[in-house]
Amino acid sequence: MKCRVCGKPANINLRSYKTALCEEDFIAFLEKRASTTIGKYHLIDETDKPIVAVSGGKDSLSLWYMMNKLGYVSDGIYIDLGIEGYSGRSLEKIRQMADKLQRKVYIFNVHKALRKGIDSIAKVIRRPACSACGTIKRYIMNRICIDKGYTVLATGHNLDDEASALFGNVLYWKKEYLWKKNVVLEGRGEHLVKKIKPFFLCSEREIAAYAIMKGIDYIYEECPFSSGAKTLTYKGILNHIEESSPGTKIMFVKGYLKMVKEKGDEKEDEKEDNREGRYCLQCGYPTFSDKCSFCWLLDKFGAEYDVEFDQYG
Ligand code: AMP
Ligand code: FES
Ligand code: ZN
Repeated sequence: MKCRVCGKPANINLRSYKTALCEEDFIAFLEKRASTTIGKYHLIDETDKPIVAVSGGKDSLSLWYMMNKLGYVSDGIYIDLGIEGYSGRSLEKIRQMADKLQRKVYIFNVHKALRKGIDSIAKVIRRPACSACGTIKRYIMNRICIDKGYTVLATGHNLDDEASALFGNVLYWKKEYLWKKNVVLEGRGEHLVKKIKPFFLCSEREIAAYAIMKGIDYIYEECPFSSGAKTLTYKGILNHIEESSPGTKIMFVKGYLKMVKEKGDEKEDEKEDNREGRYCLQCGYPTFSDKCSFCWLLDKFGAEYDVEFDQYG
């Protein structure tokens, strides 16, 4: 197989695009794809100060690296969930990347704040670890952006994440979520930051290949508490379909985005809209009720209301 661009031996076969590329041209291809997404969906303006939520996995580390390479100079945020072995190793990879990029990373340590790791927290409040983890991540990421003046929060969600979530929402006709997903989720007022997903149209396989080609050292394991059993099943089914009909995944997601646009559904997240109307009496950030779920957690564990985070780099 030869590279479609330069004719040299190809390193990757992209069946969904009916093409094969050498390493150099593949890197250029994926970077173009992300920068086109950023431009087409108006993810980052010239005046913006972006930051990337990094977990230590291939998607977020590649995104952090790529954004800086493309000129979207950005720092990072890491939420250390206090998972033995896993969280520490993830942080190592993030520190390495921070050094390489010469950027700083804000680190929120769940154990330090709540005196417990996420697994113990989940047991006390009798909820799955990932549900407590979602509450903490959403709150802290937004809070760091607002406190430190970042205007855009980028996450490493990829095409496979979005396709499987969409698949699940269609399968169960979860109308309340179905039209809410998008490449961008606008911020609201002064308390909710804009969120973006520049890898929305880049597949997991493509990002893994990019990470390897670029020598990005990432953590291979998934979080041991990740509640992704269903997601993994959906990803498997979609990969199976993709195998026999290459290009299906990207068509599915692109078709969805087109429909969202046609529907003129700009209120991607009504929940967040509602939140704008109410503010937590404790911390002043958007909430559904008098007290936000994060403050509720702090109360439950008798922790301080001051949100503190460390900084590396
Ligand atoms: P996941 O839901 O684990 O697939 O993660 C989706 C995205 O959320 C990642 O690509 C990161 O951008 C972000 N993320 C996940 N976990 C963390 C974490 N512990 N700290 C910071 N960002 C995270
Ligand atoms: Fe949520 Fe691990 S507990 S990602
Ligand atoms: Zn609060």
